Amino acid sequence: MGATVNTVLVVCFMIVGQALTMTSPDLQQRLQDLDTFIQNLMTCESRPVVGLTVSVVKDGQIIFAKGYGQRDLQTGQAVDNRTLFGVGSISKSFTSALLASILGEREDVSWDTVLTDILGPSFRFRDQFRTKEATLRDLLAHKIALENPWYVAVVMGQDIDRSEFARRVRYYRQIFPFRTTWRYNDVMYTLAAHVAEKLAGKPYESLLRERILLPLGMDDTVYLAEALEAGDFANFAQTYSTYNRSGESVMRSREEYRSVKLHLPAAGVVSNALDMARYMKFHLSGGRDTAGRAVVPEDTLRQTHTADFSMPSSWDKVEPYWPVEAWLTQGYGLGWTIGSYRGYRRVYHRGSMVGFTSLLSLYPSASGGVFTSLNGPDTASNDIHDVIHYQAADILTGKDHWLNSTTACTYPRPWWGTRRRTRSTAAPKVSDNFPRDKRDYEGVYGNRATGNLTISLNATDDKLYFSLGLIGRGLVLPTDSANRILLRAEEPLAYIPTIVADVEDKDGDIFSLSLESYPPEPPTVFERGLKLTDPDPTEPQWDDCVSGSPEHATSSNAFAILVFLAYVYCLI
Ligand SMILES: *[C@@H]1O[C@H](CO)[C@@H](O)[C@H](O)[C@H]1NC(C)=O
Ligand SMILES: *[C@@H]1O[C@H](CO)[C@@H](O)[C@H](O)[C@H]1NC(C)=O
Ligand SMILES: *[C@@H]1O[C@H](CO)[C@@H](O)[C@H](O)[C@H]1NC(C)=O
Ligand SMILES: *[C@@H]1O[C@H](CO)[C@@H](O)[C@H](O)[C@H]1NC(C)=O
Ligand SMILES: *[C@@H]1O[C@H](CO)[C@@H](O)[C@H](O)[C@H]1NC(C)=O
Repeated sequence: MGATVNTVLVVCFMIVGQALTMTSPDLQQRLQDLDTFIQNLMTCESRPVVGLTVSVVKDGQIIFAKGYGQRDLQTGQAVDNRTLFGVGSISKSFTSALLASILGEREDVSWDTVLTDILGPSFRFRDQFRTKEATLRDLLAHKIALENPWYVAVVMGQDIDRSEFARRVRYYRQIFPFRTTWRYNDVMYTLAAHVAEKLAGKPYESLLRERILLPLGMDDTVYLAEALEAGDFANFAQTYSTYNRSGESVMRSREEYRSVKLHLPAAGVVSNALDMARYMKFHLSGGRDTAGRAVVPEDTLRQTHTADFSMPSSWDKVEPYWPVEAWLTQGYGLGWTIGSYRGYRRVYHRGSMVGFTSLLSLYPSASGGVFTSLNGPDTASNDIHDVIHYQAADILTGKDHWLNSTTACTYPRPWWGTRRRTRSTAAPKVSDNFPRDKRDYEGVYGNRATGNLTISLNATDDKLYFSLGLIGRGLVLPTDSANRILLRAEEPLAYIPTIVADVEDKDGDIFSLSLESYPPEPPTVFERGLKLTDPDPTEPQWDDCVSGSPEHATSSNAFAILVFLAYVYCLI
């Protein structure tokens, strides 16, 4: 009885406290200043932004939800808090939340259940160690350390379903030994989603809708590939690869959305400021919907917010090099990066897909969160997200600001130089002629993990063209190096860097093309005429492992010789 009265009093106090927070003139003033701050950010000379959407939640309330700039330069429509933006890799946290909802209601499976226990004995990785040991936690915390063919698989898209993808996982090569090094991997989130499909018996698309989006009232939230199929972009922001206030701006094609069908669980969710505010409230309330009903068990969801594996970070911004401890990374959870901001625990994730860039930060102890998304250009967009998140976090945690209207525009200067992405190797120059007959290149080149690369000669313009995956197509060009060619993508992927491919020759004929990646990702090798039904060289190797890997075979041979020698000596 006393406990009940106390509870009632505590609840009343909380409500009053919240009401006070909500009407606090100080908070209102600070939110107005935030609005001014962002408006100023939109006018920075150094980095023009097309459009931007922002939402901030605190103590279970949406305290800020606003759009800035333009949703479409042609129509001049303004961004508002319902304009849709792709959230990119923030989709990974939707996948881990969905899995938390499924695992939370079952006794027989957990984050640590071995994948083969769920996917069955036919599922395997390339090596026996991963096959026997790998769990959902390994996939979601990026401990699997397998290759992640970003351009070939995710950007160009794969025309297969998730069962076939799960079967092909056996062909993905190791980048680092299992569980030794944190290695970001998009496609393994698709495998995790397939585990959800196996457990709950429905496609990921339906599961996410039924278990997360609908209960949270995220009614505007959709998926990139489905939106393209439906042709409905009524509320979508148009993305741009370049933006110049006084000159030309280059639009990105929505045809790109097609590629994010299979890998939706890694990067395909589309949402807006209001829906993402609901999503943040769900995470901050321990997995509850607006009415307070549990959508995901609190314990299971909390595990996704907990650092599981340490990760390298070149982002850390701490004193004495930085005015405040603005960015410290602790590690990666399950679909979330875990770190801190000015002493407050921060659970966050970035996203970047089809021209949208986003950032979501949760500050659980301040009971607040911030979401931002931009429709272009993506150059320097990280700095814009960071600046808004710092400013909003200062408000959520009741601290004074350390950025002002000048440093907001120059950030990360004067403290750091601007980051620059550099290509690992300079691309070879385009030359006038191929070193051999163009027809020699024609053919279908196969890769077991990712699919076929087709090269064909167009009789009309006498040029070589490639096609790869769902939307990869473009020109094949000769270089000043005899055994290297270039693949220059055309729309919708005209913005991606030219891909360098090594040409391997066998008895004078072109045998394979190796598409260069960014190390340590290995090149993706496409073999001419490879049929998926052809025997897989890794398969017998793997089967051998059951009775001993090749190394074991060698050592057991050596052992046999020793035994034999011992036997001979004994006889003497
Ligand atoms: C969303 O934007 C509309 C104006 O477009 C505004 O009236 C509404 O208050 C905003 N919602 C929130 C929660 O701020
Ligand atoms: C913007 O476009 C104008 C005119 O085309 C050009 O002079 C200017 O250099 C461009 N600015 C940037 C930042 O690209
Ligand atoms: C903005 O902050 C910087 C660095 O903290 C400082 O040098 C500068 O004077 C400030 N500018 C204004 C207008 O307050
Ligand atoms: C790739 O092309 C080969 C023919 O060379 C065909 O047998 C195979 O089914 C194709 N694979 C895919 C994934 O389309
Ligand atoms: C060949 O090239 C011409 C001219 O660029 C183009 O109109 C045609 O569609 C191409 N044909 C094929 C089969 O790609």
